[in-house]
Amino acid sequence: MTYLFGNLKMYCTGGESQSLATGLLHIEIPEHVTAAVFPNTLHLTDMAKEMEGSRVHVGAQNVAWAPQGAYTGATSAHLMAEAGAQYALVGHSERRHIFGETIEATQQKIAACIDAGVVAVLCVGESKEERDAGQTDAVLRAQLEGALSGQTITADELIVAYEPVWAISKAGEGEPCSPQAAADQHKVIRSIVAELTGHEVPVVYGGSVDHENIQSYCEQAGIDGVLVGHASTTAQSWEQMIAAL
Ligand code: PGA
Repeated sequence: MTYLFGNLKMYCTGGESQSLATGLLHIEIPEHVTAAVFPNTLHLTDMAKEMEGSRVHVGAQNVAWAPQGAYTGATSAHLMAEAGAQYALVGHSERRHIFGETIEATQQKIAACIDAGVVAVLCVGESKEERDAGQTDAVLRAQLEGALSGQTITADELIVAYEPVWAISKAGEGEPCSPQAAADQHKVIRSIVAELTGHEVPVVYGGSVDHENIQSYCEQAGIDGVLVGHASTTAQSWEQMIAAL
């Protein structure tokens, strides 16, 4: 199975996400591909309705760790599930670095996803400084241990996304990680996750993926698919990426 996840971040207007949804309905998703689009929270309900019955699932970009209550501005995993989300990103580096999300919060959000029946897509990855200081493996271990230790997780409740922070694009401009280097880190991640959960879970790569390089990642042993940001905002780009898989 190859996962193709599209994280729309805060790129699309309501009209753009609507036309993306319409376009996605016209794309044939091959049997070996599991596709999901992660719209802005504001557009998730409409997108999920639009995608109902299609082979494109819908996911949330973030969830609150609490199930319900006095949490102004927050949206729980339960509410996301009710709106049609089957997946949720947890611990995306933009959440960690821009919004100050802690490792403890990622642990609570994973528990919230499990409770709500939403598959958590845990994002991990090192910054450029950490990479240059040779700390990548230690950073990945700390992020995985912080998020996963003490949780009882079954193999189908979790997917891990390796997203080196330095490789994530800013509005399409980024420095991609070489497929071989990504595959090497996936091996490290797989063994840490197996040690912590007792399971083999899918591990996908994210950071400046587009239709030109998608295949070079997906053909690597141990890379189960991709999490795409900027290049997932148009139906044409989805079509080209799927054609390349
Ligand atoms: P990008 O984003 O494809 O625009 O680099 C990936 C992500 O942050 O999930």
